[in-house]
Amino acid sequence: MANQVSKHIKTLLSFFLFVLLLSDTVLSVRKSINLKKPCKHFLLHLHNVAYDSDNTANATSATVINPMVLGLGNFNFGKFVIFDNPVTMDENYLSKPVARAQGFFFYNKKTTYNTWMAFTLVFNSTQHKGTMTIIDANPMMEPTRDLSIVGGTGDFLMTRGIVTFTTDLIQSNKYFRLKMDIKLYECY
Ligand SMILES: *[C@@H]1O[C@H](CO)[C@@H](O)[C@H](O)[C@H]1NC(C)=O
Ligand SMILES: *[C@@H]1O[C@H](CO)[C@@H](O)[C@H](O)[C@H]1NC(C)=O
Repeated sequence: MANQVSKHIKTLLSFFLFVLLLSDTVLSVRKSINLKKPCKHFLLHLHNVAYDSDNTANATSATVINPMVLGLGNFNFGKFVIFDNPVTMDENYLSKPVARAQGFFFYNKKTTYNTWMAFTLVFNSTQHKGTMTIIDANPMMEPTRDLSIVGGTGDFLMTRGIVTFTTDLIQSNKYFRLKMDIKLYECY
């Protein structure tokens, strides 16, 4: 009986050792990442046309909650915007979109304009098919902001990287254009 138990323990131990070895091998074949040189680097422009009650046909974003009336300061604290924005290669709003930016942002600071964003760049053209998801804080008063690209599908399968935002143009509450400098550090 005791002999059998120790035999079982031995089998169990060697099994764990095997798993440990295996996981070590898996780790060692992981790609090394060169943070100085992105594996893909490109520029895109995002256009946001806010719904303003008389542009139903052209609006690409809508405020779904706006608690400004509650008196939470002057920086839109609590405002929540959902969007399906066109993304182009150049700065022209009328250029053929290469992707859509689909997601949301909300204002989350009472002392300055500051948003938190979560959206996916959806590519569906003959050149590119796939998605890239961006989730991060967007301190929009800074001249440039780095946001994390946390994953992707299709042509951007399992990608990770950084997108640097620059606000190119703001036209009152109706329109803004963002320059997105995309650097991917993991490509498969
Ligand atoms: C809005 O969309 C309509 C219909 O597509 C178009 O005729 C009009 O020029 C657009 N307006 C603006 C300001 O882009
Ligand atoms: C992608 O484009 C194809 C061809 O235009 C279309 O049939 C398909 O529905 C699109 N997919 C998405 C997710 O938009």
